[in-house]
Amino acid sequence: MVSEHKITMLGTGLIGMFYTMTLHDQRGKERVHAVYSRNEEKVKKFAKDWNIPAYYISMEEAINDPETDTVVIGLPNHLHKQAVELSAKAGKAILCTKPLARNALEAKELLGIVEKSGVFHAYLEDLAYTPKTLKSLASVKRGDLGRILWVRSREAHSGPHSEWFWDVEQAGGGAIIDLGCHCIEIARNFIGKDIKPLEVMCWTDTQVHPIEAEDNGIGLVKYENGAIGQFEVSWTFRGGMDLRDEISGTEGSIWLDHFLRTGYEMFTTGSKGGYVAEKSESNTGWLFPVGDEVHELGYVSMFNDVFNAMDNGTAPMESFYDGYIVNAIMDACYNSAKTKKWETVHIDNWRGINQGRAKAVTESFDANHFLVKKEQMPDGQLKLILKEKKSGKIIERIVKAGDRLEND
Ligand SMILES: NC(=O)c1ccc[n+]([C@@H]2O[C@H](COP(=O)([O-])OP(=O)(O)OC[C@H]3O[C@@H](n4cnc5c(N)ncnc54)[C@H](O)[C@@H]3O)[C@@H](O)[C@H]2O)c1
Repeated sequence: MVSEHKITMLGTGLIGMFYTMTLHDQRGKERVHAVYSRNEEKVKKFAKDWNIPAYYISMEEAINDPETDTVVIGLPNHLHKQAVELSAKAGKAILCTKPLARNALEAKELLGIVEKSGVFHAYLEDLAYTPKTLKSLASVKRGDLGRILWVRSREAHSGPHSEWFWDVEQAGGGAIIDLGCHCIEIARNFIGKDIKPLEVMCWTDTQVHPIEAEDNGIGLVKYENGAIGQFEVSWTFRGGMDLRDEISGTEGSIWLDHFLRTGYEMFTTGSKGGYVAEKSESNTGWLFPVGDEVHELGYVSMFNDVFNAMDNGTAPMESFYDGYIVNAIMDACYNSAKTKKWETVHIDNWRGINQGRAKAVTESFDANHFLVKKEQMPDGQLKLILKEKKSGKIIERIVKAGDRLEND
């Protein structure tokens, strides 16, 4: 079934603009029909620029525009709750940007609201949908990497573009709430969303900016099957937006670089100025523009998945439940940063599986040994590291050409 949805867009800032650009320029079928911002001059201009028929300076009126069936929330974090409440009351589909909320308690309330009212809901986690991430997820699902052991995800730039991000009350935190939410959900997708995150060890610091919240953070998220998610976030990194992921499994590895230095390099003396890419710090000298930014950042595939799910009556890849789990992990991060200890991730009504820890693989080599490692040496010999089953002793053995591998 092909439907044409009419959308109320809440917010005319950076994300409101990226979302509208994607919907109007790339998808075409869905249109932003109504837009809200508290500033009349800005919302009027936004509506004109993007050919949007109705604009509002009242959030409630924008949500209740009789022509629209879907609300996209692109407002600062502290306004997500009000927007979700009003949209659910209006019975409209709700697509909310990241982070879902400022903490897990608030996120749980939002999840409760959408589930009670029965409206369609999606968590707009675009970085789970980048072209490289989607292809990598397919490889991982196929088993190309074996069992996933470690996912490292990094997002770093020189800090956000609007004042409210820097205010811990409005944002709920600093770089972790802003960027860590992406990294955590990327790792969850690779490790498996059914696998329970158990506990977290986290370091935060405010190294540069005069703010209450952290401008840098590193965290380890331990999952029930033994996999580890590692995130690194920074609001002090200079030189653009660094978006990278690494996935390691028992049978393979993937390294992803999504944004900086991905094969498009340009030099200009800068006489004309102009936009290069999100969070680019310069428009002169050697630059790293991004070809199709809304695609590279996942917005196109994200809206395809979300609207296809809406039309087919299925669930999108990212739901409010996922947003809640991410908030629960981030709560544990903030807790651990304070206590300097591993802290439990508290999740109400875990909906995944409880599978216990995966065992280390013990590949039997022969009757008396387990195989630890097999390596081809530069001189052409094959070296075996073996563990004696009875004594537990680790030994090595060189296999010469013509030797039989099995048996003592
Ligand atoms: N990749 C992503 O998914 C991504 C990227 C950027 C931002 N975001 C998220 O989108 C949301 C908005 O971020 P942004 O970058 O667009 O911010 P922004 O500051 O660029 O825009 C915020 C919008 O909200 C309005 N606004 C601000 N304070 C308000 C208030 N007190 N009352 C009413 N309206 C208010 C502003 O006028 C503006 O229209 C945040 O939740 C942020 O985390 C997501």
